[in-house]
Amino acid sequence: MSAVVEARDLTRHYSIGRGLFAQPATLRAVDGISFTLEAGKTLAVVGESGCGKSTLGRLVTLIEPASSGTLTIDGRNATKPEASERSYLRRTVQIVFQNPYGSLNPRKRIGSILEEPLRINTDLDSAKRQAIARDMMARVGLRPEHYSRYPHMFSGGQRQRVAIARALMLRPKLVVADEPVSALDVSIQAQVLNLLTDLQQEFGLSYLFISHDLGVVRHMADEVMVMYLGRVAEQAPKPLLFQRPLHPYTQALLASTPSVEQGRQRIVLKGELPSPLNPPKGCAFNTRCPHATDHCRAERPELREVAGHQVACHYAERFV
Ligand SMILES: Nc1ncnc2c1ncn2[C@@H]1O[C@H](COP(=O)(O)OP(=O)(O)OP(=O)(O)O)[C@@H](O)[C@H]1O
Ligand code: SF4
Ligand SMILES: [Mg+2]
Repeated sequence: MSAVVEARDLTRHYSIGRGLFAQPATLRAVDGISFTLEAGKTLAVVGESGCGKSTLGRLVTLIEPASSGTLTIDGRNATKPEASERSYLRRTVQIVFQNPYGSLNPRKRIGSILEEPLRINTDLDSAKRQAIARDMMARVGLRPEHYSRYPHMFSGGQRQRVAIARALMLRPKLVVADEPVSALDVSIQAQVLNLLTDLQQEFGLSYLFISHDLGVVRHMADEVMVMYLGRVAEQAPKPLLFQRPLHPYTQALLASTPSVEQGRQRIVLKGELPSPLNPPKGCAFNTRCPHATDHCRAERPELREVAGHQVACHYAERFV
């Protein structure tokens, strides 16, 4: 199998002003993340609000540069790409956002929105562009008459189909989907998720699939990465992670998702999520972990392999 994405120790730090005379503080939104995403597979990224999921998505789509670390996409250097590489990478990686309305120009018709990436990136004439756009509309379940309609004339689910079609116009290898169904009615979510699965098969796509919803992740993922305050708490193949989560944070997340964890005793996440500007010393999860010890408060657990999982907990063996 070949890797579409290889990320090593990626960080993204923001400098946050604290008034006229105070030193700016450093917010470590992504703080040393490594992963490999194989061709045709889905890596799901989960975690609470603010843990750095979207920031990671922006690094992988080259919307923002990493503060440090290395990124390889489709075998090419995407850390600091040269201009020629950059145009290749822009076609190879696409993103679908949570709110398609925000990313679709309300004054343009669907046909024009879909053809824009072709106008910018290829020499195809207008008849060819239109043929490709109409073909893509059919593949995502839009009707031919939608070609000349405006975004506001569509439902949320249809607009997300338009956004997905646009993302696929340049035949990318990797799609970063940042909460692609979170804004949709539950009844529509499954349709859009099934569409994403079908398109993955059809085009051999790899997905970096960002979600805070473990029910959705269970539907989509091959591999799951659980993030906490900018770092990986646990990463494992989906069946392992759902059957036997080894990190207390993963255990708590699963237990707070009723559709996923039926029957198991419910663990309620204790305490507030700490500020990413001032993360706890030692294990970042120690302020909320039912198993925390003095050792956890003093020393940060490194990510290591335990029973087929990558897990950052001093006591992961206890949960095997
Ligand atoms: N441009 C920025 N400048 C300063 N801080 C930022 C910036 N973008 C994100 N952050 C901070 O980085 C952290 C991670 O944010 P991010 O949006 O990646 O989280 P998230 O996991 O996607 O959250 P959500 O589930 O709410 O979408 C947050 O504390 C956020 O406030
Ligand atoms: S290292 Fe300690 S505080 Fe952190 S998750 Fe493991 S048991 Fe809990
Ligand atoms: Mg986000």
